[in-house]
Amino acid sequence: MLALPPLDRDDHLIDVGAGTGKLACLIAGGYPCLGRVTLIEPNRTKLERAESRLRDILPDAKITALCAALGEGDELPQREASLVTVGSVLMPMLELRTGPHAEGLDWLRAALRELALMLRPGGRLFDVETLAPPWASGGPDDPVRRLHMLEMMSELERCGLAALECVYRFRDRVILRVSAV
Ligand SMILES: C[S@@+](CC[C@H](N)C(=O)[O-])C[C@H]1O[C@@H](n2cnc3c(N)ncnc32)[C@H](O)[C@@H]1O
Repeated sequence: MLALPPLDRDDHLIDVGAGTGKLACLIAGGYPCLGRVTLIEPNRTKLERAESRLRDILPDAKITALCAALGEGDELPQREASLVTVGSVLMPMLELRTGPHAEGLDWLRAALRELALMLRPGGRLFDVETLAPPWASGGPDDPVRRLHMLEMMSELERCGLAALECVYRFRDRVILRVSAV
């Protein structure tokens, strides 16, 4: 919250992998004039819960709930968001995939390209991650695993996200801020 830009009527927050809305509700509570929020979440039950909680906090905002997933070819918003948040989605979903690391990276790259496309000019993406533990290792043919900080930074840049800053770090827990190139 401390690192976020101020949000007002003209802003549009897209919370991806919104779950039951914990992050979106936290941000909405801090910025009650926020004009527009889109929640993206593949689990319909969680999505409905998130939408209903958010409507209580932001009764005047335009709220859209989209049942969709990153990296699966779903139709997603493009060039709309002044702020995109992704809270504990990319590394857990990467790790939950089966198969080789190379295939996991293909999914991650597709997801990151979709996230980059959601940003309007000047918009920012905040990605909350628990990165790989120091002992995690393995190449493209080894089982899929979480990424280390330098690996994650290089994936973000490769997928069109730049001006990377780490705005919070405690051990393997980080919040990365990036903008579209
Ligand atoms: C650990 S929860 C985090 C929820 C919320 N962002 C938070 O911080 O409380 C991860 C969420 O990502 C969702 N998810 C799973 N696969 C996804 C995908 N491919 N794209 C977007 N969200 C996904 C899950 O359904 C789940 O709600």
